Amino acid sequence: MTVRAAALPRLPSSGRTPVVGTVTRGTTNPNRLRRMDRWIAAVHGAELRRAEHPVTVDLGYGAAPWTAVELLHRLRSVAPRTHVVGVEIEPARVAAARPYEREGLVFRHGGFEVPVPGRPLLVRAANVLRQYDEAEVAAVWQRLCARLAPADPATGSRGGLLVEGTCDEIGRRHVWVALGPEGPRTVTFATRLGSLERPSDLAERLPKALIHRNVPGEPVHAFLRDFDRAWAAAAPYASYGARQRWIRAVRDLAAHWPVTDGPVRWRQGEVTVRWEALAPRG
Ligand SMILES: C[S@@+](CC[C@H](N)C(=O)[O-])C[C@H]1O[C@@H](n2cnc3c(N)ncnc32)[C@H](O)[C@@H]1O
Repeated sequence: MTVRAAALPRLPSSGRTPVVGTVTRGTTNPNRLRRMDRWIAAVHGAELRRAEHPVTVDLGYGAAPWTAVELLHRLRSVAPRTHVVGVEIEPARVAAARPYEREGLVFRHGGFEVPVPGRPLLVRAANVLRQYDEAEVAAVWQRLCARLAPADPATGSRGGLLVEGTCDEIGRRHVWVALGPEGPRTVTFATRLGSLERPSDLAERLPKALIHRNVPGEPVHAFLRDFDRAWAAAAPYASYGARQRWIRAVRDLAAHWPVTDGPVRWRQGEVTVRWEALAPRG
């Protein structure tokens, strides 16, 4: 990727490892991250099931612990041994979350150093980097990827997953990047189809690494332009419903872009594309 790595702020910490990052607005909502949770359960459930102690992290869960509680429930439905650690950089938000601890769910004060023992199988950071500078993204990604469980060729494991992205207040429009220990893998666009006028409506929810790159000459801009064209060409399918129109448009798009998923995910109002195809130029 081409965004510039920058020094990250370190906050004083009572523990031994410095807390890395900056306190930002704590906006959250119940069920806001359902699309991301379901995608993680679908694509990463097998990795979580295979592990003896699958530890996952909801990094920057915000002013209330809803997203961490929901992540636990959704992941346990596919991998019953999953544990979730909610990590927040704002100490008062950790204190407010503690009463919601339960079997499989704890809350910890910390930042991008990810204060959990061992190497987690999942770090989910939703609506966290949006409030940082674009120049900081590369360093944060590198740091978080280095904390993930490594790949293990002996078992066929690809290792842990970092899922970093942005959505609107109630989770109707969502875009995220998935990264493995080796770096960025894919970009996923997910939307409530009933409220979509055109695919480029999702542009305002692009993750920090891409949102400033939605300009002519950049791959993500070309992708959304082609997606809008495919959507327009698929207009006759609207009489069968927005889902059929989306599936048709994505099928056309896949002729020119490296789409990595298929109709099972497209039916959910999703499409996933290889990162390299959308990575910023220059
Ligand atoms: C907008 S809220 C997002 C809440 C929730 N993830 C969601 O999507 O609804 C962002 C939260 O991330 C926290 N945060 C920012 N940088 C962080 C870091 N380096 N480590 C942990 N939390 C961080 C902020 O304090 C804030 O509470």
